[in-house]
Amino acid sequence: MAAVLAPSILAANFAPLGADVQETEAGGAAMIHIDVMDGHFVPNITIGAGVTAALREVTKLPLDCHLMIADPDRHLDHFLDAGADMVSVHVEAATHLHRTVNRIRERGAKAGVVLNPATPLSALDAILQEVDFVLLMSVNPGFGGQKLIPSVLQKARTLRRKLDHEAPEVRLEIDGGVTVDNVADVAACGIDMIVTGSAVFGSGDIRGTTERMVRQLAELAERERTC
Ligand code: DX5
Ligand code: ZN
Repeated sequence: MAAVLAPSILAANFAPLGADVQETEAGGAAMIHIDVMDGHFVPNITIGAGVTAALREVTKLPLDCHLMIADPDRHLDHFLDAGADMVSVHVEAATHLHRTVNRIRERGAKAGVVLNPATPLSALDAILQEVDFVLLMSVNPGFGGQKLIPSVLQKARTLRRKLDHEAPEVRLEIDGGVTVDNVADVAACGIDMIVTGSAVFGSGDIRGTTERMVRQLAELAERERTC
């Protein structure tokens, strides 16, 4: 199955945000990635539940909320109330990770855990059976437009094998530094969901760039299917 695209609105122009999200939806995006930063867990402050609720009004695509916040339990329900379909929290931030991911699922959303580039895969051992997806950061979180860290691709290949053996229903997402030029190579590491921000919303042709990246993913899946 082809990997899907999850454009991150962090790089979008917030004035025509609704229209830009509809552009990428028309280009074939499968979900909208929402980067929530609190200025504590990461050195940047971005989007709250209010923007999530506003986007709920303009798109039917699943809303994928990536919580880069120090105390996710305090704010979790605000994003779920706002209509988040997927919520991911960092293993480096969630003190009560088991409780947190089960709370997300209890509320009917998909629960994900996120690993920073330097966090080893062993951090997943005690929680893997409780989640719907794992998000690997391929940049240090906090900003868009950074270069992908190549060592994370090997980490992704290792995790793909682990998931195939131990938790085949758990999906694999990657986030940071994915562009038109490297999206196929990234997908070839066994990724299911690919976040991309500045490559799409900074391109000047949101719909066209989304279409190009989605087409590359479909062509790769076809090649993998036939080889
Ligand atoms: C970074 C965020 C990413 C970022 C991706 O902390 O989690 O989602 O917006 O943007 P690009 O694709 O520009 O690296
Ligand atoms: Zn993100």
